Amino acid sequence: MDLDERDVAGLIARAAANPPRTMSVEEMELLLSVEDPVLLKELFDAAYAVKLRECGRGVALRGLVEAGNCCAKDCYYCGIRKSNAKASRYMLDEDEIVGCAEQASRFGYGSLVIQSGEIESEAHTRSIERILARIAPLGLGVTLSLGEQEESVYRRWREAGATRYLLRIETSSPRLYSTLHPAECSWARRVECLRAIKRCGYQLGTGVMCALPGQTMADLARDIAFYAEVDADMIGMGPYIPHPDTPLAAKAPRMADEERLLLGLKMIAVTRLYLHDVNIAASTALQALAHDGRERGILAGANVIMPNVTDTKWRRSYTLYDGKPCLDENAKMCQGCLERRVASIGEHLLYGQLGDSRHFVRCHVDSMA
Ligand code: 5AD
Ligand code: FES
Repeated sequence: MDLDERDVAGLIARAAANPPRTMSVEEMELLLSVEDPVLLKELFDAAYAVKLRECGRGVALRGLVEAGNCCAKDCYYCGIRKSNAKASRYMLDEDEIVGCAEQASRFGYGSLVIQSGEIESEAHTRSIERILARIAPLGLGVTLSLGEQEESVYRRWREAGATRYLLRIETSSPRLYSTLHPAECSWARRVECLRAIKRCGYQLGTGVMCALPGQTMADLARDIAFYAEVDADMIGMGPYIPHPDTPLAAKAPRMADEERLLLGLKMIAVTRLYLHDVNIAASTALQALAHDGRERGILAGANVIMPNVTDTKWRRSYTLYDGKPCLDENAKMCQGCLERRVASIGEHLLYGQLGDSRHFVRCHVDSMA
């Protein structure tokens, strides 16, 4: 890379002003490598200006239901992997999940995410269908984050009322993916799932972890290009945080929290500068690394926050990584806390809105025109 600082500033300005998706992978790599504090501020400010232009002032809300931590997968980084005997397993019943949805609706959250470990079974598929039918009258935007499934299952859940699906690709590099997962986890199948989700008419959410062992800035730049390739409408990504009861933790290089956080913020900023009109979440992992991590995520270009609406008694069991925040707070406390935090940066929470991805709405209006 032989671009000097002036070129970096120019690149940031052009990425904000030009149409989306005009940066090259090399240029995104360059932006992700910025360390100079003045340039970093320029990067975050430009991404935040694009957020304001595309999404307005205001932070969209999704009530997060951590429906269960039983998982058939054994990902080397994840605290609820099936081989972690220390994880105490739970699964909310249908009434409890519907109760969380009602609570989210009472709080004025216009949208809900139901997330759990990965289970592929007819009984599970039917149970989710029943839940979707029961919460439909609440009129919430419903996102599912229930892992890899057959296309027929995605279709059934779409028909039962879910409109959005989140499945992080984790990394767009098949090589890196194979170091993070056992051999039976196929990167190609995951990509095929993303395509199937799109075919079923969902708003598609994907994302990656950053600060992974063995990951390069070039990998991360290609991750952002991958979001465009699969035409993602929503992005949820965050720094990898080692969990002590997982195999990857021993291999993870020591990295200060602030360094992990900064990389997460840079990923948000460059994604905003590249894609412009997608929804980008300020993930809970940012908050695990710094008390104001999510606010800093918004100021780097994110526009969505996912307050936890799961009953406090289950929160400790759904621990994907070390240092998970909000373990002892209930949903009401999280709401008050968020109100204050978001107000402190001159933003406000968008109550009662579905918060559809502007990218998705635009593509649909265009295709109907
Ligand atoms: N650190 C950060 N994020 C993690 N996830 C799982 N384990 C970790 C970890 N140790 C993320 C994965 C998954 C999402 C639900 O949580 O990206 O897709
Ligand atoms: Fe849960 Fe702040 S968001 S305590």
